[in-house]
Amino acid sequence: MLVNAADMLKKAEAGKYALGAFNTNNLEWTLAVFQAAEEAKSPLIIQCTAGAAKWMGGFKVCADMVKAAAEAMELTVPVALHLDHGTFEDCHACIEAGFTSVMYDGSHEETFDLNLKRTEEIVKLAHSKGISVEAEVGGIGGTEDGVTSNGELADPEQCRQIAELGVDFLACGIGNIHGVYPEDWAGLSFERLGEIKALTGDLPLVLHGGSGIPVEQIQKAISLGVSKINVNTDLQLAFAAATRAYIEAGKDQQGKGFDPRKILKPGRDAIVARTKELMEEFGSVNKA
Ligand code: 13P
Repeated sequence: MLVNAADMLKKAEAGKYALGAFNTNNLEWTLAVFQAAEEAKSPLIIQCTAGAAKWMGGFKVCADMVKAAAEAMELTVPVALHLDHGTFEDCHACIEAGFTSVMYDGSHEETFDLNLKRTEEIVKLAHSKGISVEAEVGGIGGTEDGVTSNGELADPEQCRQIAELGVDFLACGIGNIHGVYPEDWAGLSFERLGEIKALTGDLPLVLHGGSGIPVEQIQKAISLGVSKINVNTDLQLAFAAATRAYIEAGKDQQGKGFDPRKILKPGRDAIVARTKELMEEFGSVNKA
C-alpha cells in the first residue's frame, strides 16, 4: 500500500538525512527504483511530472501501474507516489487518480498572492484525503518538461508565509537548477538555506535539481535542513549510457538481442545501481 510522504519526511528532517525523490518515466523505471529501495531498505518517494504521466497514458495509468508494481513486488519499505511540479489542475487530477502526495508549483503564478491562495486550497483538499503537499517559492532554474524558470534565491519571508499554510514540505530555490549543471555554476547558497530554515522551523525542505551537485554540497544542505532531494536527469543519464553501450557493442544484433527486454535490461540495472548509490549519499539506507 502506498503512503503519503509527510511522516517519512518528518523522520528524515529529525534524523538529518534526506530521501531521494526519483522521477519515473515508465514501468522499467518504476521497477528499478523499487528494487533499489527494497535492497537498500530505504523509504522511497517515486514521483512523476505531468509530461511523464502523459507519456504513460495519463495520471491514472501511472498511479495504477505504481500501485500494482508495489503490490506485485511485495515491497516492505514505505513508498509515496508524488506529483512533481503540478499545476493547480494537475493536483486535482492526481488527487482523483490515487496519488498519495502532490506538489503544487505556484512559483509560476502571476503573483505571490495567487501562489498563496491556491496553495492553501490544495492543502485543504489534499489533507482532507490524507494526501501530503509540497509547495514552491522561487523558481528553480533550468528547463524541465518545457517549463523554464529563471532560478532565484527564494525569499525567506515568502517561505515563512507558505509554511504557515500547513504544507508538508517546501521547495525553495537556493541556486539549484534542473538538468545538467553548467561548468560555471556558482553552487548552492547555504546562507540563503540557513535564512529560510530559521523562519520555517522543522518543516522539511526540498532540493530540486539533485543531479550533478557535488556530494559535499548535498550533505551540507542535508545538515542544514534539506530532507527531500529530487533526482531525474542523473538516472536518465545512467539509463542512456548503459543502453548506448549495449547497442554500440552490437548486442542487439546477436541472437535474440533485439528483444526489448534484453535491450532495456542494462539501462534498468544501471538505474538500480545508481539509485542505491544516491540513497547511500543521502543517508536513507536502512531507514525504512
Ligand atoms: P534533475 O533532473 O536536475 O535531477 O531535477 C529533478 C527535479 O528537480 C524534479 O523536480
